[in-house]
Amino acid sequence: MSISPDDIRKMKGSRPIAMLTCYDYSMARAMDSAGIPLLLVGDSLGNVILGFDRTRNVTMQDMLRHTAAVARAVENAMVVADLPSGSYESKQQAIENSQKLLDVGAAAVKPEGKPEIAAEICKAGIDVMGHLGLLPQTAEKLGVKGKDTAEAKQIMGDAIALEKAGCFSLVLECVPEQLGKEITAAIGIPTIGIGAGRHCDGQVLVSYDMLGLFQGFQPRFVKRYANLSEEIENACRKFKEEVEKGVFPGEQHCSK
Ligand code: KIV
Repeated sequence: MSISPDDIRKMKGSRPIAMLTCYDYSMARAMDSAGIPLLLVGDSLGNVILGFDRTRNVTMQDMLRHTAAVARAVENAMVVADLPSGSYESKQQAIENSQKLLDVGAAAVKPEGKPEIAAEICKAGIDVMGHLGLLPQTAEKLGVKGKDTAEAKQIMGDAIALEKAGCFSLVLECVPEQLGKEITAAIGIPTIGIGAGRHCDGQVLVSYDMLGLFQGFQPRFVKRYANLSEEIENACRKFKEEVEKGVFPGEQHCSK
């Protein structure tokens, strides 16, 4: 049975929640088998899969294709799909595009900011994960948000609004640890932090960063759990060497 938004809600205060971004079938199988309860088909696929500088180049077509691939793989994890830039400008567009992501297998959607739009998607009966702090789709500059009192107040107000809107959880990206702590204490839904300190109810990382697959800029909050790009490079070198020396294919690799 797959994990539901209610299961995630109940994890607040009982056990920390692990979420990873996921973009394809094989990786989704591995993450699901590892027991990761939440897989986010993030629009960070624009950076780590498609090679763009920013996530704003990601389209609905990109999100539908990758969400479907992840959804085909999972047995237990809950699949959340990002609404890409420009896909939730109006209430009607937001609901239509959320429904399309559900139709290919997402269990919930994640818009960035916009509590009023999140409220409309929730009203349509669709589960929503909120996202506040650094909003990469619209941010002028990437970096920590909520350092000054006015911005911190705004983020806190939006967090309360997203809970009222009916969101089942909230991603907090790149906010000071103290603000992450205060929001986590102020709202009844789980906060899932990325660069938001140790007091959130859960943590999310971009899988390509934590696996050491992405060689671009690494923010301070990333912890590397593997160095897969090095392993891949070594395997490719070995393959090339064996082909060039006539070692591969061996007899066992030949069709009879
Ligand atoms: O797209 C993404 O990877 C995200 C995470 C940063 C939470 O939204």
